[in-house]
Amino acid sequence: MNHFNYRQDALYCEDVPVTHIARSVGTPFYLYSQATLERHFGALKDAFVGDAPLICYSAKANSNQAVLTLFRQWGSGLDIVAGGELFRGLRSGFTPQTIVYSGVGKRVEEIDAAIGHDILMFNIESMEELALIDQRAGALNRKARIAIRINPDVDPKTHPYISTGLQKNKFGIDMAAALEGYRAAHRMPHIEVAGIACHIGSQITTLDPYRQAAAGLIALFKELQALQISVKYLDMGGGLGITYHQEAPPALADYAACLSEATEGTGLRLIVEPGRVLVGNAGILVTRVLYRKQGRAKSFVVVDAGMNDLMRPALYQAHHEVQAVERTSRPPIVADVVGPICESSDFIAQDRSMDDVRQGDLLAVMGAGAYSFAMSSNYCSRPRVAEVLVSGDRFDIIRQRENLQDLVRGEQLPHWLSTPTA
Ligand SMILES: Cc1ncc(COP(=O)(O)O)c(C=O)c1O
Repeated sequence: MNHFNYRQDALYCEDVPVTHIARSVGTPFYLYSQATLERHFGALKDAFVGDAPLICYSAKANSNQAVLTLFRQWGSGLDIVAGGELFRGLRSGFTPQTIVYSGVGKRVEEIDAAIGHDILMFNIESMEELALIDQRAGALNRKARIAIRINPDVDPKTHPYISTGLQKNKFGIDMAAALEGYRAAHRMPHIEVAGIACHIGSQITTLDPYRQAAAGLIALFKELQALQISVKYLDMGGGLGITYHQEAPPALADYAACLSEATEGTGLRLIVEPGRVLVGNAGILVTRVLYRKQGRAKSFVVVDAGMNDLMRPALYQAHHEVQAVERTSRPPIVADVVGPICESSDFIAQDRSMDDVRQGDLLAVMGAGAYSFAMSSNYCSRPRVAEVLVSGDRFDIIRQRENLQDLVRGEQLPHWLSTPTA
């Protein structure tokens, strides 16, 4: 459920016509609905009956500070995978003790910053990382709380690029090695064992993978109990899927029940790290049709947003619905919606039956709230687009469109070349 709806053939975000925003900020731009974000967060929270889990919004899905600030205000913690996300999270007012930190390649300065802020826990992804965190905590005269991120070897049945809990994936530590890892962690002077963690993948549309993963983690928990290694948290990661096209992800209540069952009677506090399910359908990308073009084999709608702005179709063959912002009564066309970039993977949709849009019309690319702006780049020296937030009948820019100077900020010529005059 989201708050992008048509009123008399004009697409609105909550109470604001999308055309109105386009006139004001230009195109392309990302547009998010605050009411949708709030609804999604509330629905997930309310899905859990009994003990409330700690919901740690996964910053990587959409790390705009306005979005982070909203989740923080609604009581969320934060899941991070980089020092930059820690920086954003702290700037957005998150209490460090609600921040969990995963990632296979944590750098020493990132580790130091997280220890310095006394985050809730590091989700450890290798024994070398564990040893380094122990060493750095010692050097900083602190104790670092940790969970081991288990790789439970469970198939989340999602796109291979967003599958993270199989043995062949780089993530986590396998179950057998994890037990040894916990023994080692327990002996380390600057480590406090706090949890057991996993994150098996993203855009997961069935509950079975969660059930399997949770069963493995609980079995490990019992082994740890037998070894007198106490654990407080069970962090089941994120990954719950959304409907982009025809997917039918589980109901939130079923998802919540499945995870709550796993912790029942254990005394463990559940942590979840949702990203996509909170923000995915709360955002769209608005782009303008530059040209229509009839090739020999295909019809093309060339738009002003490229794969640098939305790379999910190129990266994952992801499906995004594409809709005219102002509907017409003309019969639909079948076309590829393509961007201006010099790659054949630069498309938003292929062979799509869609509204018969014309040059200058606006298109809405739906389901673009997660892993969309966050993955955008300056490829082909294209300034990154603006982000806009709507709440009711108000809208505001939450990230300015980049300009040409932004493109070269930080670049400099080597000292043996003269400074250009332009
Ligand atoms: C460790 C971790 N937690 C949570 C998430 C969020 O996943 P999703 O957006 O599918 O909920 C990710 C995504 O990659 C992740 O790597």
